[in-house]
Amino acid sequence: MEATVDKFNLRPHMQFGISCLGAKWVSKTNKWDVYLQDMTGRKFTQQAEIFVSAVGGISEPRNIKFPGMDKFNGPIFHTARWDHTYDYTGKRMAIIGNGCSAAQVVPSVVHDVKYLKQFARSPQWYHERPNREFSNFEKFCFQYIPLWQRYQRYSLFKSSDALVDTYMPGERSRKIRKATEEGAIKYIRETAPAKYLDMLIPKFPLGCKRRIFDPNYLQALHEENMVLVGEGIKEIDETGVTGESGTREEFDVIVLATGFQVSDFLAPMKIIGSTGHLLSEQWQESKGAQAYFGTYVHNFPNMAILFGPNTFPAHNSVLFTCETQVDYIIKTLFASVVDKRATIVEVKKEAENDWVTGVQKLLAGSVFSAGCSNWYINSAGKNSASWPGYAYDFWRETLFPRYTDFRLEGGSRLWVLRSAYRQLASLLFSKPSLFLFLTVGFIWKDILVERAASFF
Ligand SMILES: Cc1cc2nc3c(=O)[nH]c(=O)nc-3n(C[C@H](O)[C@H](O)[C@H](O)COP(=O)(O)OP(=O)(O)OC[C@H]3O[C@@H](n4cnc5c(N)ncnc54)[C@H](O)[C@@H]3O)c2cc1C
Ligand SMILES: NC(=O)c1ccc[n+]([C@@H]2O[C@H](COP(=O)([O-])OP(=O)(O)OC[C@H]3O[C@@H](n4cnc5c(N)ncnc54)[C@H](OP(=O)(O)O)[C@@H]3O)[C@@H](O)[C@H]2O)c1
Repeated sequence: MEATVDKFNLRPHMQFGISCLGAKWVSKTNKWDVYLQDMTGRKFTQQAEIFVSAVGGISEPRNIKFPGMDKFNGPIFHTARWDHTYDYTGKRMAIIGNGCSAAQVVPSVVHDVKYLKQFARSPQWYHERPNREFSNFEKFCFQYIPLWQRYQRYSLFKSSDALVDTYMPGERSRKIRKATEEGAIKYIRETAPAKYLDMLIPKFPLGCKRRIFDPNYLQALHEENMVLVGEGIKEIDETGVTGESGTREEFDVIVLATGFQVSDFLAPMKIIGSTGHLLSEQWQESKGAQAYFGTYVHNFPNMAILFGPNTFPAHNSVLFTCETQVDYIIKTLFASVVDKRATIVEVKKEAENDWVTGVQKLLAGSVFSAGCSNWYINSAGKNSASWPGYAYDFWRETLFPRYTDFRLEGGSRLWVLRSAYRQLASLLFSKPSLFLFLTVGFIWKDILVERAASFF
């Protein structure tokens, strides 16, 4: 990341240690007032023509309050807010939750703590990690055969993308899912202690919860200082935790592997759009967050969201989606404003609703709504998280934006000239163009010198 920041000279454009509290669209100026706060607590406002949220979809810990939690004498921290100053060596640790985060924490700490008890309310699907060592021949190819690495990367992308078929309705998907479930059950049986198998093997279909590619978690369950219980939390007191079964034990530290506030997109920022209403209020009316291509929301002009509603692929890298969204936002919003095609770019309400309806139709009957608890489905029962198709489809569908789906206002008639000039300039000053000019220049220089020599 550091190298990329330097490569593109991004550092001068960055400000660190600043939190965005919210933003308000000001119709008089056609700009966003963005409310910020630095680490000293100083609050200030900045104006912006364009407001892009890149606050992540899985970054704000779920706000969970167990009865008596405030009384606990020791440290309590969330996996995403890990207290690195705390030395847990030789301590008694309780871990609450058993999602992907807990599966990574358990094998990392189990050898250092004195005692580890994990509270898991429901099972998960575990699979062997598909990581493997590359052979010397493959390493040779990576180093010396042009594009070989790219090809490998592409193959990996394609095979991951094909996994989407596992989660959708229909007989073909059911068969693929069944075969994958059988493989997972075999792996769990072979790897986990027999005493936990009933607790570990899910009864809900594979994919309903995010699958876990096991980072040695099941192996860690064999450790003598490790106990797994299939229950939630009844209460916490000054020195201990009582599970739902009523069993109480003493602990020095409690780790909350309880997940993230995914359905409250952009929270806790307060964002006010052109109608004077909060984004959260608009989303309450639509029974959950929604955005056109997970990026644009009507009544919120010149605003874009990265990793927004219904952009989460269950089967491929989120980063690919985010990068696709960046390209899309540049084409639709940045280019329009920079070229003065428009001063206001806002998705039309009907376009947004049509897109969301289409996505929800595709999601109907998918495993995501198969009855388990997961972070895809919000309290109103709507899946505001998942992208139902291939990651490739998201790229393809955003490649050529439908400008008729947007309200483009203001701007200049000369925008076409500006756009042509900008694109030509960026083409001429691109590395391949400069390389081409230099090569042609050198060839010409040689020809000229040769001609001059023959002349004299
Ligand atoms: C433990 C873990 C492992 C994951 N592993 C994978 C994986 O293997 N593959 C995958 O595809 N996805 C994975 N994910 C999902 C992951 O969230 C995304 O892939 C990726 O981080 C998204 O990038 P992002 O830049 O959108 O958000 P983030 O990486 O979450 O970055 C958001 C940034 O915004 C900042 N921020 C938040 N609110 C504010 C505010 N109000 N003001 C200012 N700054 C703010 C945060 O501090 C953070 O720096 C994982 C998530 C977690 C939690
Ligand atoms: N690729 C990776 O290596 C990686 C690693 C970590 C995270 N991630 C990403 O981050 C996402 C979130 O993972 P996560 O493990 O942090 O969260 P998560 O999958 O949402 O899991 C949260 C866990 O906390 C439990 N929980 C929630 N509320 C509880 C309560 N009130 N009482 C008791 N238990 C409670 C849940 O139990 P229930 O299931 O019973 O609700 C679940 O076991 C993942 O799905 C994945 O996308 C990826």
